[in-house]
Amino acid sequence: MNTTIPVTSTATELSETTGDEWWRTAVIYQVYPRSFADSNGDGIGDLPGITAHLPALRELGVDAIWLSPFMTSPQRDAGYDVADYRGVDPLFGTLADFDDMLAAAHELGLRVIVDLVPNHTSSDHAWFREALASAPGSAERGHYWFRDGKGENGDEPPNNWNSVFGGPAWTRTTNADGTPGQWYLHLFDSSQPDLNWEDPWVWARFRDILRFWLDRGVDGFRIDVAHGMAKAEGLPDFTPAQGAGSMGGAGGSLEPEISTVPPEPPYWGQEGGHAIFRDWHRVLAEYDGDRALCGEAWIDPPSKLALYVRPDEMQQTFNFSYLETPWNAQALHEVITSSLDAFGSVGAPSTWVLSNHDVVRHATRLALMGDNPQGHGLGPKTPFRPDPVVGLRRARAATTLMLALPGSAYLFQGEELGLPEVIDLPDSARQDPTWFRTHGERYGRDGCRVPIPWTAAGASYGFSDTGASWLPQPAEWATLARDVEASDPDSTLSLYRRLLAEREERGLGAGVLEWLDGFGENVVAFHNGEVTVVANVGEASVSLPPGTVLVSSAPLAEGRLPADTAAWLAR
Ligand code: BGC
Repeated sequence: MNTTIPVTSTATELSETTGDEWWRTAVIYQVYPRSFADSNGDGIGDLPGITAHLPALRELGVDAIWLSPFMTSPQRDAGYDVADYRGVDPLFGTLADFDDMLAAAHELGLRVIVDLVPNHTSSDHAWFREALASAPGSAERGHYWFRDGKGENGDEPPNNWNSVFGGPAWTRTTNADGTPGQWYLHLFDSSQPDLNWEDPWVWARFRDILRFWLDRGVDGFRIDVAHGMAKAEGLPDFTPAQGAGSMGGAGGSLEPEISTVPPEPPYWGQEGGHAIFRDWHRVLAEYDGDRALCGEAWIDPPSKLALYVRPDEMQQTFNFSYLETPWNAQALHEVITSSLDAFGSVGAPSTWVLSNHDVVRHATRLALMGDNPQGHGLGPKTPFRPDPVVGLRRARAATTLMLALPGSAYLFQGEELGLPEVIDLPDSARQDPTWFRTHGERYGRDGCRVPIPWTAAGASYGFSDTGASWLPQPAEWATLARDVEASDPDSTLSLYRRLLAEREERGLGAGVLEWLDGFGENVVAFHNGEVTVVANVGEASVSLPPGTVLVSSAPLAEGRLPADTAAWLAR
């Protein structure tokens, strides 16, 4: 058995590539710190755990890592509720641990992007505490969205917006004398009050925060809820066309059809947000080394999303239209075309993504047989069970297709092992605020956040020496552990390594896509430079064009490309 998978990409001195706009073609691996690797045995991953495992990521062949938040936080939304933007939460280590991790990553030629959460703070943040202690109308309250309630006694919320996590987007405060006070806005949990980006004071604070991390040497930022920072003037009521409460919809929904229904929700995609990113663009430009901003903007269609990456705004934005595209050749063709057109029209690279810490892992999602809006998650009572074999097969094909596309691609930790969503988490283990705010009606996102397996043997599969794990890992994960997959040439890990090595060697990230016709309605086929890419999303096998097969997501069947399989061929 072939146990070594050649990795053609070797560590690159970062200084060599400075000035090359590395983010245009980079494959960026999302590290979700609490679930990556635990060095101190408390069952929660940490920064020294990341440092220790960076060589595995270099070996995988990615160019950069993005770290979900590790800043000081009461962890009511897994760190997306920041109480101090300059501090490292003791759960994850210290600032010195961060500096060590950053230096080790750079030494290996890996760039590092950190998560910035500017739409809201934690309710434990000193700014919010000061606001609560200050009078209505004060400068301190002006940093957030405090409003008097409606109705005779002000006991109705100021408008009808709902929280993305369920329930109203407003919470009423209590005055020092115990009487009911003003309300404050939170598009997410009540512990995540929204900042008021109409207040120049907020702008000044965030410039300082950007500089704090840029001075430490980070290569960029992933901007949380970039599409929600500006609100429509007067905070008008909004009644969405249908559905409620996924990531894209405080009272709305993420489904593409919602964003095409006028009027736009007054909390997403507002014009005012763009000025903030222009300001930040200028801050990053003060630094050497091509620092980059990547926006989390759940905006559809791509033509509107591309406004966030005009030349003087952010460098990248996540392409969630691609993530949400069903396993259907025509839909894939359309979203790839519209993405390349839209991003190309503003001179930006398209990005591609299939999984992250907010969505059902694509090894499960691509086999779902029922409606499952983003953020709702899966659990024991979900009426439909996806077939895991079909899911993994499609996931491997989908990644093979994605990594052949020109632009930059994002991977989520564990997808390179083929990890599925964990559906059977016990209710008592769940931690997503969505689960609590909807009283168990929506399972939320815990199923994609289960700590990843490093070794088949050992407590918690090598995640933590003590066997502790903040979410329970399924028994079947021993076979998906990295050490098992590393020595199996047919494993998903070996497939990812091969794809990443070929992608780099053949310059696919910087390539040009040329569509190919004539393969039938269930096939997506194109040339990217000297490589032919064919993805068969149908049930019947299809013939392959001439060429040498470089990599295939599943074995060929008598020279033909089977169902749910994608292959790259050298022309
Ligand atoms: C993050 C989520 C988080 C939310 C609120 C999102 O976009 O990715 O994990 O719950 O923002 O900060």
